[in-house]
Amino acid sequence: MLGDLTSLVTELTIFGAIFAALGTGVTIFLGGMRLGKNLSQKSIDEKLEQAAEAALQDKQRADALETHFQQVQDVLDGSVNIWLRPTSHDVGQHYKQLHKSIPILTVANFKGGVGKTTVSANLAAYFELHLNKRVLLIDFDYQGSLTEILMAASKQAKLEASAIGLISGQHAPEAVLAKSYSLHPELPQSRFFPCFYGFNKVENQVLLRWLTQPNAPEIRFNTHNYLSDPIVQRNFDVVIIDAAPRLMTATINAACASTHVLIPTMLDGLCTNATINTLGVFHELKAELNPALEIVGVLPTFVAQSQRLSANETEALEQLRQLIPSYWKKAPFPEIISDAWICRKAAISRIAGNGLAFSTDNDVRDMFIALGDKISARIFPNEDRPTPDAGIGYAASVTPIASARRRG
Ligand SMILES: Nc1ncnc2c1ncn2[C@@H]1O[C@H](COP(=O)(O)OP(=O)(O)O)[C@@H](O)[C@H]1O
Ligand SMILES: [Mg+2]
Repeated sequence: MLGDLTSLVTELTIFGAIFAALGTGVTIFLGGMRLGKNLSQKSIDEKLEQAAEAALQDKQRADALETHFQQVQDVLDGSVNIWLRPTSHDVGQHYKQLHKSIPILTVANFKGGVGKTTVSANLAAYFELHLNKRVLLIDFDYQGSLTEILMAASKQAKLEASAIGLISGQHAPEAVLAKSYSLHPELPQSRFFPCFYGFNKVENQVLLRWLTQPNAPEIRFNTHNYLSDPIVQRNFDVVIIDAAPRLMTATINAACASTHVLIPTMLDGLCTNATINTLGVFHELKAELNPALEIVGVLPTFVAQSQRLSANETEALEQLRQLIPSYWKKAPFPEIISDAWICRKAAISRIAGNGLAFSTDNDVRDMFIALGDKISARIFPNEDRPTPDAGIGYAASVTPIASARRRG
């Protein structure tokens, strides 16, 4: 129905443009005939040239409209993936820019409930409290779970869903950054962009405008344009984006802005399918839009024990390992982080929405330090690692490490 309507509109628009062009030509030509007696041959030629020029412009406009409506039609009938449409963005320049960027880590899986938000929040705590990094956290899921956790941690009562500014592309970078919120007192050097229900409405608007308006500006690199700005690069050491479990405007923006992706997954059959599909999508996005993107790892979560995997978990992990090469088609294949997994911990579910488990539970903190050390070896490859703090008490280990690198 929508397809029929679109093709009808296309045809009417094209015919209209062609008739208008012909009409302009004929009117000018007849006018020229009537005035022929008074006009020199030169001015008749000029009039005819102008008419031909106007007709050409009308035809070009009609062609552009036809191409545009064909693109819309291709998306509507499913023959083209809108997110993989060719881009006018300079992908080579983009690669160079991300190469020099602070690490931008997206935590993603198209399965909900696998621990993305928990991992994002506690890794941020690791980066600031253990490595003295300044973290910019972005909540890109309208469910707003990360926002809830961070509101509690920073004692913020009233917030605006300012993550919207990062996808809408309508503000100057400083204006956007001014809308991020401090995470004082829990993470005093870090800031965050909150997200609530309503964010999805903006995601839809941005997408529809891009899809339906001829010559609409590119939208997939809006977040990149903010995060690559010197104001962000100078004021933060690492960015963490908590992505939604769906391929929408914000997730695409996260993928195009990021240097790294971390994919949490439970070790069971359902999650295995979602995880390899997620990997497949990021592989395509890397190939088409963001060649700088690296998978930092597939992270097992909700593991029953810290020391070893159960028989079922081992089986799921092996299955995942075997399937990865058919979805991530080129070596090096993404690693499964099988020596720093995240266990199911009552302390995490107990504090859910009320703060950071990293700061309140020693086991959780140690678990995220082991994971964080592994991730920072990948994303800050040229830095000295902090010495392991085995045997040092909790209070000592959360004291910022003075020698940690600082930017700006
Ligand atoms: N390691 C864990 N142990 C216990 N509960 C967890 C753990 N990780 C997450 N949870 C809980 O599971 C639920 C889903 O986790 P969440 O991080 O929100 O997943 P996602 O962001 O992938 O949807 C939340 O209630 C969270 O508190
Ligand atoms: Mg979440």
